[in-house]
Amino acid sequence: MLDRRPNGAPAGGIEAPRVTDCTPTGVTKMTKRLRLPAGTLAIALLGHGPLAQAYEYDRYNGEQINEVCAGCHGEFGQGGNEGEYPRLAGQPAGFIAKQLLLFRERRRPNMAMIEYVDHRQMPDDDIQDISRFLAELELKTKLPPVDEGAPGFDAYARLLEAKKLMQVPRAEGDTEKGGALYRRECGSCHGREGWGDAAKGAPMLAGQYTSYLWRQVDKYRNQIRIHDEDSPEEELLAAFTNEELEDIFAYLSVVDD
Ligand code: HEC
Ligand code: HEC
Repeated sequence: MLDRRPNGAPAGGIEAPRVTDCTPTGVTKMTKRLRLPAGTLAIALLGHGPLAQAYEYDRYNGEQINEVCAGCHGEFGQGGNEGEYPRLAGQPAGFIAKQLLLFRERRRPNMAMIEYVDHRQMPDDDIQDISRFLAELELKTKLPPVDEGAPGFDAYARLLEAKKLMQVPRAEGDTEKGGALYRRECGSCHGREGWGDAAKGAPMLAGQYTSYLWRQVDKYRNQIRIHDEDSPEEELLAAFTNEELEDIFAYLSVVDD
């Protein structure tokens, strides 16, 4: 369990690993407001009973835990290293919590995170707090234009803002075909424009690193992850060619432009 020392240092011998930055690309304005309802945990899916009955969201605890996660996933949940570390900010809380439980139970392999998610370090309340904390982080998809020569321009604040950007570089493929295919085959769960669906526990795909999405496609196709719990035997992505997925990911990469 992470303690709550006010200086923010996580306890228990956890050392935050080296922070890996992602380099933001693309600069404009507009905030993508992700619709994030209160975090409902996907515990039922995992066959657990309800978590601690008297649970009350402790945002401060979430913030503290995030200092550990930030070493890989970025201070603002923006992910990093070109998608080696996925973006977490704005993902549905239920989706995040479910993945943490799967990691904790070793049902989704994750060598990198293994030491952070054993039961002692990550009791249920902590899972809920960090999941909701991350779900409520908002990332802009564009930076508002500024006059860097204007008096009062704060270069440091600007740099921090740039680090929080959620911009996916244009992925190769036919965005038009991909958009049509996406809306027909994926949109019902992942949201019309790919921003996720909390009620269905479906993560956002727009805004996520393309390389990360491809890695997950491999995992689903090889049954290392289960895409749809209702039909675990039939991986729905197996029915798509790489070219079709390439078009879909191309479309998803421009939704935030
Ligand atoms: C040492 C690096 C590292 C640390 C620290 C770390 N993670 Fe991760 N995390 C990863 C990697 C790598 C993946 C991607 C695994 C994969 O490719 O399937 C990942 C995946 C995830 C995912 C799945 C996201 C998705 O869209 O599929 C979640 C959720 C997550 N991490 C949450 C956390 C939280 C919360 C913390 C802090 C308690 C944390 N991680 C700390 C490296 C790390
Ligand atoms: C029946 C609902 C449903 C449909 C249809 C669906 N998905 Fe999913 N998808 C989910 C759920 C739920 C998850 C999270 C599952 C888990 O826990 O691994 C997910 C996860 C993913 C992930 C992993 C993302 C991450 O951050 O870990 C990718 C990639 C993905 N879906 C791609 C697609 C694509 C592409 C399509 C359309 C061809 C599609 N999905 C259609 C429900 C769906």
